[in-house]
Amino acid sequence: MQKQPVGIFDSGFGGLEVFREIEKALPFYDYVYLGDTARAPYGSRSQKEIYKFTSQAVNFLFEKGCVLVILACNTASSEALRKIQQNFSDKKVLGVLIPAAEAAVSLTASKKVGVIATQGTINSGAFLRELKKLDQSIVVYPQACPLLVPLIESGQENSKELTLALEGCLKPLMDKKIDTLILGCTHYGLIEDKIRQMVPKEVKIISEGRVVAEKLKDYFKRHSEIESKITRNCSIEFLTTGHLDKFNKIGSRFFKDEIRAQKVDIQQ
Ligand code: DGL
Repeated sequence: MQKQPVGIFDSGFGGLEVFREIEKALPFYDYVYLGDTARAPYGSRSQKEIYKFTSQAVNFLFEKGCVLVILACNTASSEALRKIQQNFSDKKVLGVLIPAAEAAVSLTASKKVGVIATQGTINSGAFLRELKKLDQSIVVYPQACPLLVPLIESGQENSKELTLALEGCLKPLMDKKIDTLILGCTHYGLIEDKIRQMVPKEVKIISEGRVVAEKLKDYFKRHSEIESKITRNCSIEFLTTGHLDKFNKIGSRFFKDEIRAQKVDIQQ
């Protein structure tokens, strides 16, 4: 029988952070992970490009037989998800923003929520929109942190540069006395411990991996018509549009397990 997997898409490596938690929570399904590393990072690209690249990826994953596709990328979820959901109306495509926004709304007491993310995600205003939709009284403090993705990807999680960049991002939010902080970029899960040390202990930190995995579990319980179509062989296929050795090396750090990818072309 042909596999009917769950498709997970990210611009590159960060989605592996989210996928790791999904696979831990739901290990029995078949999965295909696609990272568009040839064209990453998306965070500094235009909305038009992000939409075009994400559509190509989603199309590719559905043609491979995926039952549903998760955009495990905040930039793609912010800039492309709504239009993709309209254009692929007969297919299921889910993002990572709403689960993170729901978690923040349920945790905040002061209603002051900070969001750190890529420039693209912050410019889109998508977190502000989703948080306000859930609770109009929430005050959102968005903060773009464009230096973090390149530092994390190049393995400089413990560098002085990263600490300085993080201090610059977090200070304005601490000055506003937020009580909840959304890590609105897939890469930031990798530096969650560092962020924890740099903010007061009463600040609740929302890292998307666990939150998205929990919400997906719940989604499958409510949508058995979709869940029952997914094949169950515990298989994982890793695909990249970019350099194979680089993907395997950096990807294994994000996935916290050895990965072996195949190279694909998704530009039809
Ligand atoms: N995956 C992206 C996100 O979550 C970060 C990397 C990029 O800019 O492509 O926003």
